[in-house]
Amino acid sequence: MKKAVDNFTVIENTALNASNFLIRLKSPVSLQELVPGQFVNIEINNTDQVFLRRPFSIFEINYEEQTLSLIVKILGKGSKILSKIKPLETLSLVYPLGKGFTKPNINDKILCIGGGSGVAPMLFLAKTSGLPKENIHIILGARSKEDVINIEEYNNFGQVHFTTEDGSVGKKGRVTDHPLFAEELISFNKVYSCGPEPMMKAIATKAKEKKVFCEVSLENLMACGFGVCLCCIEPTDEGNLCVCTEGPVFNINSLKW
Ligand SMILES: Cc1cc2nc3c(=O)[nH]c(=O)nc-3n(C[C@H](O)[C@H](O)[C@H](O)COP(=O)(O)OP(=O)(O)OC[C@H]3O[C@@H](n4cnc5c(N)ncnc54)[C@H](O)[C@@H]3O)c2cc1C
Ligand code: FES
Repeated sequence: MKKAVDNFTVIENTALNASNFLIRLKSPVSLQELVPGQFVNIEINNTDQVFLRRPFSIFEINYEEQTLSLIVKILGKGSKILSKIKPLETLSLVYPLGKGFTKPNINDKILCIGGGSGVAPMLFLAKTSGLPKENIHIILGARSKEDVINIEEYNNFGQVHFTTEDGSVGKKGRVTDHPLFAEELISFNKVYSCGPEPMMKAIATKAKEKKVFCEVSLENLMACGFGVCLCCIEPTDEGNLCVCTEGPVFNINSLKW
């Protein structure tokens, strides 16, 4: 797929909670087809403090309106500057980047597990999987009520469950403590995940043990986003691979976890 660099116009910037916000951007040209797990690399405007572009997964696409949306967690300087961006400002995006998740088969029952900012590709996957709602379970994990990302529309695309470490929303504990994962994992044909590495490693360990198909989307530190700088390398069975071009989505069996 050909990569483009375009100036997108910000049409919405909405706080989802204290630390996450949703940015909707309009492309100046027709959008190329984008699949869940793919990402964009954004230049942070008006600053000499954030030199490199920052990668973000695609959350939603509307081809007719030429818009795409991202869910961004405020972490450091770049995301903080982005959180203050206003409608009609523009952002330079390099896209589409990376390889996405394997599309589920028509009769699959899938479990999508998102932690922190890893929620975005999980919801995009649920919405575009083509499966009936009954066959999609989504577990979203957060530390507490203040971090929960609850976008109600997604109840239309799957059965959404929450876990929080302090029990303030949903089941108390981590995503891996949720009974759907802890006790019913083998009832799913495919498990998909994106979030903090320790969370994905815990998911991978159990999925391997139970021999359940599992793909994870890695969030290694990146710079160029298209295979030139080699700063995003991940050791795999096929050698050291660039997460930005060979991933970010990997089958757990190919990772040296
Ligand atoms: C393929 C991909 C998709 C991503 N999708 C999303 C998304 O949808 N939403 C979202 O909020 N974030 C996403 N991220 C993470 C996002 O890119 C970083 O949070 C962002 O670059 C941080 O920039 P910053 O300038 O705010 O923080 P910085 O000042 O760059 O970093 C602040 C701190 O966070 C650490 N950090 C930075 N990036 C990462 C990372 N990738 N993993 C772990 N620690 C990191 C730094 O080491 C530093 O300690 C994604 C990352 C990748 C590689
Ligand atoms: S980010 Fe440059 S090679 Fe992956």
